[in-house]
Amino acid sequence: MTRRTTLPRLLPALDGGSRARLAYGADYNPEQWPREVWHEDVRLMRRAGVNIISLGIFSWARVQPDDDVWDFAWLDELMDLLHAHGIAVDLATATASPPPWLTTAHPEILPVTAEGATVWPGARQHWRPTSPVFREYALRLVSAMAKQYAGHPALAAWHINNELGCHNIYDYSDDAARAFRLWLRDRYESLDRLNHAWGTAFWSQRYSDWEQILPPRLAASHPNPTQQLDFKRFSSHALKDYLCAERDILRRLTPETPVTSNFMVMGGTKGMNYADWAREVDFVSNDHYVHPGPQDRDELSFSANLISGIAGGRPWYVMEHSTSAVNWQPVNVAKRPGDLARDSLLHVAHGADGICFFQWRQSAAGAEKYHSAMVPHAGEDSAVFRAVTELGATLDELAPVAGSEREPAAVAILFDWESWWASEQDSHPTSRLDYRQEALDWYSALLALGIRADVITTDTDLAPYRLLIAPVLHVVPGDLADRLTRYAEGGGHLVTTYFSGVVDENDHVWLGGYPGALRDLLGIRVEEFGPLLDGDAVSLDGGFTGTLWADRVDVTDPAVEILARYGSGEHTGCAAVTRRPVGSGSATYVATRLGPDGLTGLLPRLLEAADVHSELPATARGQVELTVRRAGGHRYLFLVNRTDEPAALPGLAGDVLTGDLGGARTGAGDELPGGHEDAPQSHLTLPPRGVAVLREPAP
Ligand code: GLA
Ligand code: GLA
Repeated sequence: MTRRTTLPRLLPALDGGSRARLAYGADYNPEQWPREVWHEDVRLMRRAGVNIISLGIFSWARVQPDDDVWDFAWLDELMDLLHAHGIAVDLATATASPPPWLTTAHPEILPVTAEGATVWPGARQHWRPTSPVFREYALRLVSAMAKQYAGHPALAAWHINNELGCHNIYDYSDDAARAFRLWLRDRYESLDRLNHAWGTAFWSQRYSDWEQILPPRLAASHPNPTQQLDFKRFSSHALKDYLCAERDILRRLTPETPVTSNFMVMGGTKGMNYADWAREVDFVSNDHYVHPGPQDRDELSFSANLISGIAGGRPWYVMEHSTSAVNWQPVNVAKRPGDLARDSLLHVAHGADGICFFQWRQSAAGAEKYHSAMVPHAGEDSAVFRAVTELGATLDELAPVAGSEREPAAVAILFDWESWWASEQDSHPTSRLDYRQEALDWYSALLALGIRADVITTDTDLAPYRLLIAPVLHVVPGDLADRLTRYAEGGGHLVTTYFSGVVDENDHVWLGGYPGALRDLLGIRVEEFGPLLDGDAVSLDGGFTGTLWADRVDVTDPAVEILARYGSGEHTGCAAVTRRPVGSGSATYVATRLGPDGLTGLLPRLLEAADVHSELPATARGQVELTVRRAGGHRYLFLVNRTDEPAALPGLAGDVLTGDLGGARTGAGDELPGGHEDAPQSHLTLPPRGVAVLREPAP
């Protein structure tokens, strides 16, 4: 269980820790700069309102210049300097990048690719999560750091390693093979059970000794799919196990100091099952970078929302995002005016109590010298630093929201790492399926309709949600099928899609027709998958267009209602969207990919059936995103203008905590948005890309 550390308590250095506030800061890499710059740094940090920084992330070679040689003097000086200026430290364990002396003495810590190539030093994160030698050296460093800084007044939190798995999630070395076998023994207990689970009767793969089992290294053809799925599970577990090894040392030596490790819930980063990791840290933190594109801010919102789900609705921390351009995309575009603040506040809207950047001062040398920072190459006289300083002031105004939790929505999207991994494996009906994109499309459609939704993982209680959307829920073990059935029988409205319910936890097909484990609940049967060729599309009545996939759906329960039929293609006239009434709930199947626009057209019927309505004034739906945080008798309404046009919010009122609302503050007090017909009419207007936060008493 995640311990309930609230972030204001991470900031003991200011005000004696008494005033609740949001954390604000960055990764700080002072080893790249001479000492004079450190003093300039703390001056500017104060100006910007920075109150916490992450220190020491890549400092291994500096703290331990050689085996048995330690140098803490420079870090002691920095810890003291930061503390003297009221800045708290999220101190890294410094294990992210092993120094050259270590990799030269012990090249057996270097990862190995599926093809058998060594991943050489020269960048960072060149270490095997399962190497006993790496662990010995790294954990010695963790102990040394913890002993050196235990009780230091600047120490607010521990930052384990950095972005575990960013570059080394899949290692196929002999160490990995040994650890994989141990993990498999634990999971299956006997070779017979493993042989069954992996379906090794296929292609003569039967194992007669544990030692014969390997990671799925480069093979002549498609490697065993359950072996691949288990290797994904194992690789996530191995890094989590390493995280726990560092954490256990920290908890022993500094039991009062909360521990985190920056996750990477963003875009296609899928190797680490963070739903499984979250309970191991004292508070959840995340790194997020925007990938420019048509759904880029929807994706930011989706990621922040998923992190909130992983954190159980409790506050979390943005450990890294960017003030402007990054340096690792094909084209690295600077953020536009307003983006820095809006991106940051959208994270706060979804429960972030801390907003930090990579990094404090833009590097002059090294691989990331063209990556933006809080202090850019241009220096403090720059638009970026002015925006950074303004954001610091805004976060200060938002201090009252610190510690508040997310108010659950009526709608949830179920996000499942196992289905993500399994649905995108090779040798499938199509290689074009993108699990996260399908989930994001549903989320974009909900945003377009002004419907607040939570993104949740499979360990979440489903009962509070009136509408549960489970896109491409491919892996459905028997107990999950039972839970979903009970959910619908209990009055919940379940929606799922093509390629759902198909396999169990061993990636074995549920026989008798698709969608396998969910067939009876949905009252339908699909005999053959319907992937579509690139460029092919089918029309549906209602004016929708389906791409990627178009199942031929046979209705098996006469109670099933057909919400849409195919209007073109092989299955013209057949059901494409079905709904089966189940008790007071229902179970809906969408047999094709409708994309954000099609889903925006379909969803109103599903929402209506579930009695879910937008909480936003009609004119603001789609233009404004609403989230709600709640604490201590207050609701905090975050209103984020998603567009480049001003957004009118008629009828909306409340106590404005922050945000330029056209000066039309009504002070009317406690009306719910769109709630009371006789509420005094206000004329709040959000500027383009603007954000406002209103406070009202909780009912
Ligand atoms: C990651 C790392 C940082 C930095 C940024 C650049 O998030 O943790 O050290 O490399 O990417 O975007
Ligand atoms: C080849 C092989 C078969 C089977 C088919 C699948 O023909 O001989 O074992 O793999 O491909 O198309």
